[in-house]
Amino acid sequence: MSALVENAVGFSGQFLSIDYEQRKNYHIFMKIEELKSVLITGGYGFIGSNFIRLLREKNPSVKIYNFDKLTYAANIENLKDFENDSNYTFIRGDIKDGSMLDIIFPKVELVVHFAAETHVDRSIHNPGEFVLTDVYGTFSLLEKMKQHKNVKLFIHISTDEVYGSIKKGSFTEDSPMNPSSPYSASKTGADRLAYSYFKTYELPIIIVRPSNNYGPYQHVEKFIPLFITNVIEERSLPLYGTGENIRDWLFVEDNCKAIMTVIEKGKTGEAYNIGASQEKKNIEVVDMILNYFNKSRDILDFVDDRRAHDFRYSLNWDKIGKLGWKPEVNFDEGLKRTIEWYINNRNWWEKVKKGEFSNFYQKNYKKELQ
Ligand SMILES: NC(=O)c1ccc[n+]([C@@H]2O[C@H](COP(=O)([O-])OP(=O)(O)OC[C@H]3O[C@@H](n4cnc5c(N)ncnc54)[C@H](O)[C@@H]3O)[C@@H](O)[C@H]2O)c1
Repeated sequence: MSALVENAVGFSGQFLSIDYEQRKNYHIFMKIEELKSVLITGGYGFIGSNFIRLLREKNPSVKIYNFDKLTYAANIENLKDFENDSNYTFIRGDIKDGSMLDIIFPKVELVVHFAAETHVDRSIHNPGEFVLTDVYGTFSLLEKMKQHKNVKLFIHISTDEVYGSIKKGSFTEDSPMNPSSPYSASKTGADRLAYSYFKTYELPIIIVRPSNNYGPYQHVEKFIPLFITNVIEERSLPLYGTGENIRDWLFVEDNCKAIMTVIEKGKTGEAYNIGASQEKKNIEVVDMILNYFNKSRDILDFVDDRRAHDFRYSLNWDKIGKLGWKPEVNFDEGLKRTIEWYINNRNWWEKVKKGEFSNFYQKNYKKELQ
């Protein structure tokens, strides 16, 4: 792979001169179009790869450093067309490994931290990996922020799941955190750790908490891609419980644009919810997928509910709305685009489904991928 450059040296990027002390509660005012160099962690995952693609569209010359361990969740094909991009560098590494990060941090002015273990079901089977990656990995990056003062801004990608479930109303950024799964508890640890590095060491850190993302390049283990691809393959659809759980669905491009808005206009030390106001019961989402393919509910397979399954997530996103962002893609349109992407990119997901995923499926749903 030609774009894989390990140990890249000799960088002489220019940094805006902001006095370090002035960074507290400060608008950094970075313009996406004027960015010179960015470190993206987890850039071969779902949201990270969509973010890199959008960033390149908006800024053809920014140096992009994608630092990714390439876990089962990553897919090199997500950014295949970047292989000949001379301003794109992939570094295979683990965010827990500080010595690897020391190579990259001096080269960048912005860090956007996506890397994490992200699948709630896997966190129930194997919680230790989530604590190590999501909490310790974030700690390791924050320590590098302390050392490398050239980095002007660190965006920590948290999640709406830190608040836990809410029956009525919506969580604001000041709502108490009440995570239910080892995934969301680890993300809560990381979220608060990031805040503590802002508060204690006055580092320029902003936290975003997006709701459930969907769209192209999402791993087939997640609800929407699993159900779309199972319908295409004429398999049954393993639906947890009765399908009444509610999620607020955010199209991935809208999420990436929201993160860019926060980079440009957010204030350090603040957290921003990113919601879509597109709440749907899981069973409603299933019906929409079935309708698209002209299938009936006969292929539904109601399976035992997920342990500690949060009933409803809902975010109040007025705060980021005041920065001028709003979601552009409604769920009908976004789901159609997503279904069509999976129809047109069968090679991409068939390989994933044949590999390690079939063991996970068997373990999680207690049935073969059939
Ligand atoms: N997908 C969602 O709906 C959603 C919603 C809210 C927040 N988030 C958050 O957004 C971020 C990205 O989510 P995603 O869905 O794109 O995740 P993903 O699982 O698709 O990708 C995660 C990426 O991180 C990499 N990674 C994992 N451990 C690593 C390590 N130790 N060192 C370096 N790289 C490592 C993986 O290889 C992979 O490329 C995560 O922090 C997640 O918690 C996701």
